[in-house]
Amino acid sequence: MAIFFYCNFTNKKQWLNTIKKKFPNNKVYTIKDKPNFLKIKYAIIWNLPNNIMKKLKNVKIFFSLGAGVDHIINSPGYNKAPIVRVKDINMAERMSYHVHSQILTYQLKLYLFQKAQIQKIWLGEQNTKLNKDITIGIVGLGFLGHYVAKYLNNLNYNVIGLKRDNRKKVSNIKIFNEKNLKKFLNLSDIVVSILPDTEKTKNFINKNFLSLMKRDSFLINIGRGSTLNENDLLLHLNKNKNFFVSLDVFKIEPLPKNNKFWTHKNVIVTPHAAALTDIDSSIDLMVSRFKHYKKNGKIKSDVNLVKGY
Ligand code: OXD
Repeated sequence: MAIFFYCNFTNKKQWLNTIKKKFPNNKVYTIKDKPNFLKIKYAIIWNLPNNIMKKLKNVKIFFSLGAGVDHIINSPGYNKAPIVRVKDINMAERMSYHVHSQILTYQLKLYLFQKAQIQKIWLGEQNTKLNKDITIGIVGLGFLGHYVAKYLNNLNYNVIGLKRDNRKKVSNIKIFNEKNLKKFLNLSDIVVSILPDTEKTKNFINKNFLSLMKRDSFLINIGRGSTLNENDLLLHLNKNKNFFVSLDVFKIEPLPKNNKFWTHKNVIVTPHAAALTDIDSSIDLMVSRFKHYKKNGKIKSDVNLVKGY
């Protein structure tokens, strides 16, 4: 069977070698091999250029090399074949570490010490809160959001969640829906957004959302850059000196050099690095879905194309 592989990761060679090893009975092609694209049945991809996507007319399964699938469904040439995305515990665990590290930077005021060190200022002890006295609001409770919520809850933070459908229980976490956004944000000392990129989530975090957040609070965005109105956020930051953000995703990535977030004193910028895709475990997941498909002749897509995630 012909598999096509594409990504722009720096470790793409390692990805390719592992895919070849774990799919031993299949021929794995990259762009360099100049394959006959019409013969490709399976594609393992991340951010495939549109002109190539257009040629993959006969692909039966798209495997996303990450948790997100917007890079596939937003591509005009996508043939609507089922999508398998990375739903990996290792990724969820690493994402939880990232979120916790940002929370601790804010909670323990480490950002103050980092700045003071540059100026060689001995700042002395700072007043800090205990986990039990902090409420964390998680926006978006899919596979990753749910994992992060449980992880933080186990550390004794108060965790609440915002989700379109609040009828389904998520562990023992209190869930709010959009109608109760105000209440949810009023309670949250820290908001962690893990929203996917869909029509409904575009600029969901905007002027209105930010104005409902506590004045002294912290926003972490590890979902998608499209879900945040960056201009509204800059205005909000400039008006509220005790408002902090940690941004891992942006409307344009890599973040352009002239973007104001790079140098804003209340902003932490990380380069879409909140959750590494673990090569071995994610390819193992693909192999197991592939084997299941080979045995049963069908596969259930991980993506609802109407909802867009
Ligand atoms: C993503 C990922 O979807 O890094 O952003 O997996």
